Amino acid sequence: MRMTSAVLTAFLLATSAATLHAQVTERPLPRLVKKDGRFALFVDGAPYLMLGAQVHNSSAWPGMLPKVWPAMEYLNVNTVEIPVYWEQFEARRGQFDYTLIDTLLREARQHRVHLVLLWFGTWKNGSQHYTPEWMKREPDRYPHMVDKNGHAVDSPSPYATAALEADKTAFTAFLRHLKVADPERTVILVQVENEPGTWGRVRDYSPAAQKLFEAPVPPEVLSAMQVKAASPSPNWQEAFGPEAEVCFHAWSVARYVGQVAAAGKAVYPLPLYANAALRDPLKPGAPGTYESGGPTDNVLAIWKVAAPALDILAPDIYENDPVVYLKVLELYHRADNALFVPETGGPGNARFFFSALGLGAIGFSPFGMDYTVTRASADASRPREEFLAPWAMNNRLIGPMQREIARLNFEGKLQAVAEEKGKITQTLAFGPWNAVVSYGARRNNPAEGNPEPTGRVLVAQLKENQFLVAGYFCRVDFRPADAGRERQFLRVEEGTYENGVFKFLRIWNGDETDWGLNFGEEPVVLRVSLATY
Ligand code: DGJ
Repeated sequence: MRMTSAVLTAFLLATSAATLHAQVTERPLPRLVKKDGRFALFVDGAPYLMLGAQVHNSSAWPGMLPKVWPAMEYLNVNTVEIPVYWEQFEARRGQFDYTLIDTLLREARQHRVHLVLLWFGTWKNGSQHYTPEWMKREPDRYPHMVDKNGHAVDSPSPYATAALEADKTAFTAFLRHLKVADPERTVILVQVENEPGTWGRVRDYSPAAQKLFEAPVPPEVLSAMQVKAASPSPNWQEAFGPEAEVCFHAWSVARYVGQVAAAGKAVYPLPLYANAALRDPLKPGAPGTYESGGPTDNVLAIWKVAAPALDILAPDIYENDPVVYLKVLELYHRADNALFVPETGGPGNARFFFSALGLGAIGFSPFGMDYTVTRASADASRPREEFLAPWAMNNRLIGPMQREIARLNFEGKLQAVAEEKGKITQTLAFGPWNAVVSYGARRNNPAEGNPEPTGRVLVAQLKENQFLVAGYFCRVDFRPADAGRERQFLRVEEGTYENGVFKFLRIWNGDETDWGLNFGEEPVVLRVSLATY
């Protein structure tokens, strides 16, 4: 067929529009990938490290966003965690309002960040405070949990079937909209509910719940929890003894959240996660003293079998005791769970980003990182960035090379640590080399630890005798694993990563290398080539 020039022009325009559309729509879906026992979040087809920040709870309203973006810019994040409120999304039953989501998508793209959207649905911190008004006005249809005396408590019943159906419908509408509105994959991960479970009560005592509590435990729960029970089909009490009620509530809540997640995932298969209000893993206390029913460390296996549509169970870490903090990281870094810290806080805790990286974390995000909160007058003279500064330091260092760091970690080539009080040196083994990290070392004097534990560092093996080293407030040196040999620096290059390429800035030698490689408060990245003599 011969084409006239007008037909040809129209054809070319149509093809290029189709190609453009295809380019956008064909952007790969974010996905969680596991290989050789390690996890990575793939964004645009390659490992991606979420340098995140979560906003305050009421900061996702369009009028508040001008107080969000400047904080995110200051923090140098690549990912913003921000809520979607069910009460806004479905203020009228069955009518979904996408305007807030669209505003978030548009503004995030303008600010060149990805989003993790937080579905404040049936549960928010154990309560149902974000359910729409029309649900709150019908407590008989959308019931709260009841205590042993039959009194309603401030937590939704995981056996409220109408609420479950409503949440599934709303969450599905939310994800269906994302599927259409977000071919760019601005949204890379969605949190289902927020800290689901119950404060102050261990479980629901509604008739439906009671009947199931007395029934046999599902066999998959018994095997996930490795229960060796006396009888073949034990009920919850027989199987779990003093932990029976908390295990039962975890199963009840996880099944509900899992059904919401599965319904959304069926229309748009983004990676999904649930977050936990922790219990202290070292001194947990009896059930009832921590939020019951959420993915706390003692019931992770129950959540995994009851809610398989969730890709990740993630700890919100507000612990100030470093031993507890590190224990939590260890407990959520499992063969069946990628480590992701969606919320954290606390003075001095920013350095634990490096501990998380050392356990293969796919992301780390402090909470409350915006300028919406009016500070007490005593604080008014302090710069508003002061609160953000320790977290911003991490991103200033890692931001330009986050893709390299994510890839090296996924390939098992990276180790990272943070300073612990009283631990003056840490040794990281890399085959023929040991990287020796010390804190508070000056010239050739012995290290004494920093006055406050602020040190943090990552070391990645690029080749057998070449390493990438980056950190703050520490010294790094290398020792041959062969004790009969000595280390010499062939070349210590300071530089930065730009678009995946190491850009040389200068060679370190003399005072800069004579006693080891010293990292202070400036973001420094070194590429170190070694030999022995
Ligand atoms: C944990 C919750 O998940 C957040 O939404 C927030 O309430 C913080 N606690 C504390 O402010």
